[in-house]
Amino acid sequence: MPANRQSRSFPEGFLFGTKTSAYQIEGSVDADGRGVSIWDTYSHTPGATRHGDTGDVTSDHYRHLDEDLDLIAGLGAPAFCFSVAWPRVQPLGSGPVNQRGLDFYRRLVDGLLRRGVTPVPTLFHWDLPQPLQDVGGWPARDTAGRFADYAAIVAGALGPEVKMWVTHNEPWCAAWLGYALGVHAPGRRDVGLAVAATHHLLLSHGLAVQAIRAAVPGGRAGIDLSLMPTRPASAHEDDLAAARRADGNLNRLFLDPVLRGEYPADMLAHYAARQPGFGVVQDGDLRTIAEPLDFLGVNFYGPRTVCAPNRMAEARAAGYWVPAAPPEDPLNADLRDVEVHRPEFERTPMDWEIEPAALTELLLRVRDDYAPPPLYVLENGMANDDYVAPDGEVRDPERIAYLRDHLGALLDAISAGVDVRGYFAWSLLDNFEWANGFSKRFGLVWVDYPSGARIPKSSFAWYRDTIRAHALAP
Ligand code: FCB
Repeated sequence: MPANRQSRSFPEGFLFGTKTSAYQIEGSVDADGRGVSIWDTYSHTPGATRHGDTGDVTSDHYRHLDEDLDLIAGLGAPAFCFSVAWPRVQPLGSGPVNQRGLDFYRRLVDGLLRRGVTPVPTLFHWDLPQPLQDVGGWPARDTAGRFADYAAIVAGALGPEVKMWVTHNEPWCAAWLGYALGVHAPGRRDVGLAVAATHHLLLSHGLAVQAIRAAVPGGRAGIDLSLMPTRPASAHEDDLAAARRADGNLNRLFLDPVLRGEYPADMLAHYAARQPGFGVVQDGDLRTIAEPLDFLGVNFYGPRTVCAPNRMAEARAAGYWVPAAPPEDPLNADLRDVEVHRPEFERTPMDWEIEPAALTELLLRVRDDYAPPPLYVLENGMANDDYVAPDGEVRDPERIAYLRDHLGALLDAISAGVDVRGYFAWSLLDNFEWANGFSKRFGLVWVDYPSGARIPKSSFAWYRDTIRAHALAP
């Protein structure tokens, strides 16, 4: 009997929220002493983003702070996750602190607390200060030390009221989209650099956990990983091996060091010949990286199915959608995996397959393989072809179905005994979706970019009602 015939309650204290990130929503890139980030540089590089879109203005959150705080309060979610822009706090990435930048986050935190909302800051959501990139960026070890300093500054300024802290958002994207695939800032295409970036991002995470604990009495620290169940297109050994490599790169390369204090042996071997690669690892680093956590954030958008490059014809014959040629980008060419799609699953406008049960599977796997601290789903949501109807409403039943089905999958994991403590919808507002610019809308609230006007979509009302009921309606 499918459980979804009855309304299903969330555990007491289950934390609902929404999440945003600084570069995607703030705009005001020159305001109040902010420095330049790698995303300013990258988005202004001709051809880097769709239509040449940039975060210069985007959702204009910096100048709509009070209105956005009221929207958050109106949603009724007890928590809000946002990121702090490092270049606002330390315009050069090191050295002098820009008090006006910190003041903005102080206003945000105070505004949330006044409205009874728990602030959950993320220290890094990809907007590295450009001066640090100029001296090597994440592939350089020194960046980890600079991040620890910055973490101490922010934790010192926003604690003691702020108790829940996320060090990094999706270090896989920062390292691999930024340094191997080249589709995110800083746009490098070098696998050896991506391996080194991975290590220093993780090292900086461990150092930041220590800094948060030192600065915030009773503070809770975690990291937020993008995780994906990775499936082989068939049981053929080549497809199994391709799926295992993809899983190693996407999931185990981050879960193993953070939760077990070691890199996966197959990934160490896979990248052994890359420079600087794992050559940057020093004694004691893994102990720092595996600093015990208070929680683990999981971002989930869908599974990934792959075949081996020599198995594309078989995958096509089996009914998968298969690209015409194996990918030539440095990341997938190196992993020798080809992403395929299963036609029976709908895809969002991002081309991401919608399979809510894969979230249950993922949460169970993390529990079974890693015995992790309490889990929070810190991002989940969908891009949708939203539009403002002639009556002024934005109706997004697709997004409501997506959220409902993923919350149901999360409840399934809880029923199976997984300790999941919260769920944050990505995102509060439509925003600058990185290289996709403004072509993809993920918000529960529509943003009219020319005017900055906000229109809550029907999914906003649905999420508000679900939070209020603390249960999923049948
Ligand atoms: C995640 C990012 C977030 C947003 C969503 C759609 O990977 O953390 O900034 O782009 O995807």
